[in-house]
Amino acid sequence: MAKIKISPSVLSADFSKIGDEARAIENAGADYVHLDVMDGHFVPNISFGSKMIRDLRKCVKLPFDVHLMVDKPEDYIEKVSDAGADIITIQYESTIHLDRTISLIKKFKKKAGLALNPTTSENVLEYIINKLDLILVMTVNPGFGGQDFIPEQLAKIVKIKEMIEKTKKEIELEVDGGINDIIAKDVIKAGANVVVSGSYIFSSSNYRNSIDSLRKV
Ligand code: DX5
Ligand code: ZN
Repeated sequence: MAKIKISPSVLSADFSKIGDEARAIENAGADYVHLDVMDGHFVPNISFGSKMIRDLRKCVKLPFDVHLMVDKPEDYIEKVSDAGADIITIQYESTIHLDRTISLIKKFKKKAGLALNPTTSENVLEYIINKLDLILVMTVNPGFGGQDFIPEQLAKIVKIKEMIEKTKKEIELEVDGGINDIIAKDVIKAGANVVVSGSYIFSSSNYRNSIDSLRKV
């Protein structure tokens, strides 16, 4: 089985020492830094924007896994790209012109990801999957850390894994929301290879142990 990547979501970190928190997860063996950009419109919460991404870029070398939970993501792609994003994931539900927006991410030479809300069917991937580098299955309703995992999403992960295999391309399958060491086993068995986790990692006293525990199947 391919190596499982862990992408800690700094949404659950202490923002008063965010640079130290990012360095700590890098030193603890994280693979990516998950950065949740929220605009208070697409989701009922505001987190941070491209300045935070730019400032954090000076602190760590890990790839930046930017998750845009914003209306009209096309208006933010250049900014987060310049700020240091490596992967830019947009929500399927947030843009009318999905193909154009994915092409815009590629224009900036970034990896393009597509996130699906819990009630969005995997069928929407049919005409876009070949252009994607990453598919993100939201296992909570986007907007907040610390919510409960929605178990119905396991079946969706299995179906998307099959769709990815049919493409014969290397498309990452990421899960985000309510993941702890117990649920991680289920999502990995279902086919996920990138695990986002916020509150589980940042509420622990030892980041290395919590990150390692998410990789164990
Ligand atoms: C939720 C965000 C998540 C969040 C995950 O809308 O996209 O990345 O930080 O946090 P936990 O792991 O606490 O559910
Ligand atoms: Zn996220």
